[in-house]
Formats: sequence, structure tokens, C-alpha cells
Amino acid sequence: MNLGQSDALLAAEPLVRTGAIRLHGPEGFEGMRRAGRLAAECLDMLVPEVKPGVTSEHLDDLARAFLLDHGALPACLYYKGYTKTVCISANHVVCHGIPGPKALREGDVINIDVTCIVDGWHGDHSRMYGVGAVPFRARRLVDVTYEGLARGLAAIKPGARLGDIGHAIQSYVESQRCSVVRDFCGHGVGQIFHDAPNVLHYGRAGEGVELKPGMFFTVEPMVNLGKPAVKVLADGWTAVTRDKSLSAQCEHSVGVTETGVEIFTASPTDLFKPPIQAAAG
Ligand code: MF3
Ligand code: CO
Ligand code: CO
Repeated sequence: MNLGQSDALLAAEPLVRTGAIRLHGPEGFEGMRRAGRLAAECLDMLVPEVKPGVTSEHLDDLARAFLLDHGALPACLYYKGYTKTVCISANHVVCHGIPGPKALREGDVINIDVTCIVDGWHGDHSRMYGVGAVPFRARRLVDVTYEGLARGLAAIKPGARLGDIGHAIQSYVESQRCSVVRDFCGHGVGQIFHDAPNVLHYGRAGEGVELKPGMFFTVEPMVNLGKPAVKVLADGWTAVTRDKSLSAQCEHSVGVTETGVEIFTASPTDLFKPPIQAAAG
């Protein structure tokens, strides 16, 4: 395909979710590299800030200041009524935890999810962080979640299907006696925050939309130690496991290339999986 031509075609399309899956060209890849890199640098910056006693609100303030200082916009701020820059989801919170005045406690595991807009392109990225020393079962859940994402990403290449990604994640996660959350999925990403297609983290190999060079989307599996069911709290955002079991997540924004996948949100300092200190037991 002629990637240069697809940039020109996209320029004529309205910036709304139409249901069609966009095929981006070189300008799109350039834009997503800048946005993805800044999202990664923001989460790199937070690594030494995550410690017992710090509030999630403080981490949110740091993230917002960082993005604004680097000429980016926080995509979540005022998105559908959300009023923070990042989502911080601790322990049994599955996703969309709202930063607040509660202090982090030794042994917590938290996900920080940031989305920045750089020159109109969205870098959507999340990682797990340990607060001080963390018990074995939580560290194991984090390991399973990262390995699940890695296997999903390894399935991405032209000609593969969305179901191959979901199948790679689900089969691995369930082999480790953990479960994949069904209620939230990855999504197309680019100049639109949440675009087509939906990227399920479970599924059957060989099913679903065929991947083509120039498709941009996130892969962001949520993995539970217990059952997959979730509920959303009265604040309208915070999703928690129904059985109160621990949940973990990590997210990359990626593009399908001619030969495989490009990870736009790769950490320049290799901190995608920040080291977690081990607690006894
Ligand atoms: N970053 C989240 C995602 O991965 C979306 C958060 S929307 C918000 O898609 F409004 F809660 F911030
Ligand atoms: Co996302
Ligand atoms: Co995200």
C-alpha cells in the first residue's frame, strides 16, 4: 500500500469516530512516536515518586505539570466529565481509579494510566508500580499481566487477526490461573482517543478483523487474581473486582507495520516494568 497516499486521504476525513478502522501513513507514525514517547517519559518520571505516604492526587499533579511543561495536553482532563490527568487504580481497582487525597500504603500495587495529546496525536499508556515492599501474590499477578501483554503484542503483524491478540493473552493468563476482564477493551487510537476497532483481550485465534499496516490501537489487558467480574462504583468511574481480588493492567499504544508492530509508548529508559521490591511472604 502507498502510505503517503493514506495521509492525504485521512486529512480529508472528519475527526470523529465513524466505526471505520483508519489506516495511517508516515505522518501518523511520526505523530504517534512523539505522543507515545512523551507518555512513556511521563510514567518514567513518576517511578521514583511512587512511595508510601504519597497521595494519588500528588502523582496526578506531577503528571499534569509534566505534560503541560512539555507542550502536551492531558487527554483525560474533562474527557466525558473526568476531572483528573491520570487514572490511578490500586489493588482491587481494575481501572479508572480517580486520584484523590488517600495516601498510598506499603504493599499496594497501583496502575497509572496517562494519555497525552501531542500535536493532535494521543499517546495512551499504563504501567504497574509497587509501593514499597509488595507481597508475592501481587508481584506474580503483575508478572502474569506483563507477560500477557507481551504475548498479545507478539501476535501483531499484517494478516493476523484481532482474535489472535485476544487469544494469545487469554490462553496465557488462564494457564496461570488468573482471569481476563471482559468489560473493558483496547481501542483504536490516533487523532481520536477512543476509535475503532475494539481490541478484546480474550478471543479465538483466526477470528475478527484482519490487521493491516497503518492500523493504530492500544492493547491494555486487565488481569484478576480471582474471577473476571467487575462493578463500577457510584462515582461513575472506579471499576473494581466484584470478588475484591487483586487486579493489574498495563497498556501500550502500537501501530501495525509492514512486518510486525511498532510500540509507540516504549520507555526510553527501559522502565516499562518498574522494579517492584519483594516483601516477605
Ligand atoms: N486511558 C484510559 C484508556 O486506556 C481511558 C481513561 S478515560 C478517563 O483508554 F476519562 F477515565 F480518563
Ligand atoms: Co486505552
Ligand atoms: Co490508558
